[in-house]
Amino acid sequence: MNKVYLTRRENFCASHRLHEPSLSDQQNADLYGYCNWKNGHGHNYEIFVTVCGNPDPKTGMIINLVDLKKMIHEVIINRVDHRHLNFDVDFLRGINPTAENLVVVFWNELKKVVGNLLYEVKLQETENNVVVYRGE
Ligand code: NI
Repeated sequence: MNKVYLTRRENFCASHRLHEPSLSDQQNADLYGYCNWKNGHGHNYEIFVTVCGNPDPKTGMIINLVDLKKMIHEVIINRVDHRHLNFDVDFLRGINPTAENLVVVFWNELKKVVGNLLYEVKLQETENNVVVYRGE
């Protein structure tokens, strides 16, 4: 069978603050830089969700992209877009919202609806910072 990878890109804007309570204010400032600013700051995030499977012989599709888009919006975008990730998102409660932590949580949420077709979640926080998680 032909194994094909299909990626859907979506984006959202959100604010966050990186802060580890067990470290001093100075250590936090040194560690996280502007991401530690007291009142938070924003990012224009991009999320890339990749599914993997065999195209259906009849439809030629691994998954209907309309369905995939809908799932990404329902479980991620609608819940994080234009929110403060430290305070306003139920499934991120208590999580220090680094890109690394976010991509794992997003994977777990997507896995519930996309199921076994889910191959990879990539989160781009800035033009130069990208994290990838494959559920391992
Ligand atoms: Ni930041």
